Amino acid sequence: MRYPGSSLVVTTKGAGRMAYIDWTECLKVGHRFMDQDHERMVACLNQLVEALVGDIDELAGVSRHHAIEGAFASLRAVTEAHFRHEEAAMAVQQYPELAIHKAQHDALLAQLRTASDPLHSPAAGASIQFAIRFWREWFEYHVENYDVALADWLLASTRTE
Ligand SMILES: [Fe+2]
Ligand SMILES: [Fe+2]
Repeated sequence: MRYPGSSLVVTTKGAGRMAYIDWTECLKVGHRFMDQDHERMVACLNQLVEALVGDIDELAGVSRHHAIEGAFASLRAVTEAHFRHEEAAMAVQQYPELAIHKAQHDALLAQLRTASDPLHSPAAGASIQFAIRFWREWFEYHVENYDVALADWLLASTRTE
């Protein structure tokens, strides 16, 4: 199966390929488990992009199809685990915005589910690329507009316990 991944823009710098999304200070929320989970999620997204557009020789004998499937499954699993993690913390601390925050999480999971359905179809490459872009935009927006506030709340709540 051919994955037309070349339209995903992954800039190169020197001999190496730059990450699709960089783990930078801008993405940190200052809460330990959230930052650790987020860093892992970003690494998974970069691995998925690498599986999609990377040099096939670098994939150590694994077919591109299997590399993409594995990386996509990892991204979904790590993303879901993180959401359960945040939602459990919100429930314990009785976070007032739990419902709206969880609805954001659910929207991304629904998007990832629809992208994973047609993995064997001829349109799989375009579907995965859409999911990658959606994930990245969703993540950057969600961290800035939801997770920063949650991190502050969790830190304040545990400080006053
Ligand atoms: Fe998060
Ligand atoms: Fe969140």
